[in-house]
Amino acid sequence: MDFAIALDHTIKIPIHRQLYEELRRSILSGRLAPGQRVPSTRSLARSLGISRATVTLSYEQLLSEGYLKTIPSSGTFVYCQLPDNLLQPTAIQPTQEAKQQPVQLSAYGANLVDLQLLMPSKTELPINFSCYGRPALDEFPLGLWRRLLARACQLQPTMLDYATNAQGYEPLRQAIARYIARTRAVRCEVEQIIIVNGSQQALDLVARLLVECGDLVAVENPGYLDARQAFLLQGAKLAPIPVDDLGIVTDRLITDPAAKIKLVYVTPSHQFPTGAVLSLSRRLALLAWAQQTGAIIVEDDYDSEYRYSDRPIPALQGLTINDSVIYIGTFSKVIFPALRLGYLVVPQSLVSVFARAKLLNDRQSSILEQYALTEFISEGHLESHVRRMRSLYNQRRQTLVQALEQYFGNSVTVLGENAGMHLMVQFHRDLSDEQIVLKAAQVGVGLVSANPYYLEAHSTGEFIFGYADLSEEIIQAGVSKLAQVLMN
Ligand SMILES: Cc1ncc(COP(=O)(O)O)c(C=O)c1O
Repeated sequence: MDFAIALDHTIKIPIHRQLYEELRRSILSGRLAPGQRVPSTRSLARSLGISRATVTLSYEQLLSEGYLKTIPSSGTFVYCQLPDNLLQPTAIQPTQEAKQQPVQLSAYGANLVDLQLLMPSKTELPINFSCYGRPALDEFPLGLWRRLLARACQLQPTMLDYATNAQGYEPLRQAIARYIARTRAVRCEVEQIIIVNGSQQALDLVARLLVECGDLVAVENPGYLDARQAFLLQGAKLAPIPVDDLGIVTDRLITDPAAKIKLVYVTPSHQFPTGAVLSLSRRLALLAWAQQTGAIIVEDDYDSEYRYSDRPIPALQGLTINDSVIYIGTFSKVIFPALRLGYLVVPQSLVSVFARAKLLNDRQSSILEQYALTEFISEGHLESHVRRMRSLYNQRRQTLVQALEQYFGNSVTVLGENAGMHLMVQFHRDLSDEQIVLKAAQVGVGLVSANPYYLEAHSTGEFIFGYADLSEEIIQAGVSKLAQVLMN
């Protein structure tokens, strides 16, 4: 049987692959009909001027995929039972009904479509206060990090296999346990630590494992949007709890007897975005309330390393003797956000289920970065980098506060400047938040309103000012430019 097939010897695609594609196409288009005998490998090889082994390779692929069938001592045939309509895929038309129906998303998918997501600001403006969580990336010791990664690449090959423990690299968990015991007074055993890909994965796991559709989750208002989103995706109902200059107003949690709150999400070291530090008396009240009601406290300690006055207040987790706190830490602020490493400290009773969730979520975090980070912490580089950044950010923070006072006087209130990498500024001007953002942009300054962080968004005149990655000159220039357009 003659069978014309065009093979191109000048292109990079191997001949056996071209032949396979041609035969497959011929079967699907009906050029080779079901049940039809195909040429023997010997005769096809001869007619195409190629080796028999090449033809055999293509046939074997088609046989294994079920397009061809060999009948002993008869030959090779196109498989009979390929449904006719599949043989001409182009001829398959969707029904009217199928055309009209979009793909049905799960409840999770549908919730996701409805959420308002804030992406990192990519503004091209020359002075940008709106990147509020961004560390001074140009100050990070990349040369040292490169060396540590290179060391990681010399690991035993067995280390490159799947980890036997999804909770993360054991030496890293040991180093973190020592670090948070020393710096944050967190009390835990190494086995309570689960390495995650940043706080966001921690929040996602917490929400999936602990929140059911309809559960009441208390959140700070204003508060961290991406935590709220993780709970909303699980169908939580949010209970907004106000925040003042001492942090979340715990009385408002406690005095609502009707509400059966399952979980409360808090940022006690540096409330996001107001910058308030939760007072010790409120910390104790919060813990007592959780113990009484059985609610779980999720403590997000995202930038607690940066504190500029008073002595650091220990983490909530270290103040409790029971299982009411899940603690979340991240390296996004003290190293760099793209590292995507953080950790959860979970009560003993939840370790196993969190480890299983992490396993089925992404199996494990990347071993090379975990290894480099272990060395970075154990050799003391993390703490010396944090010390250096604390002093740098403190100078930048003071410059910002002084410039705001100098240029704006009573026309601004500065909030939450004692900690973290951003502060909040309330402008007392007769302008909406949008007008302020526009006017700032006209003089090349990027600003972000705190508005979206409130549950019921409204114009507040409050703006989040990131300063950690801006030099003192830039900060001065930015505030002076703002004054030009906002004070006249
Ligand atoms: C309140 C809060 N938690 C956590 C993070 C860090 O998230 P991740 O560790 O996923 O980078 C941020 C980042 O800005 C934040 O504002």
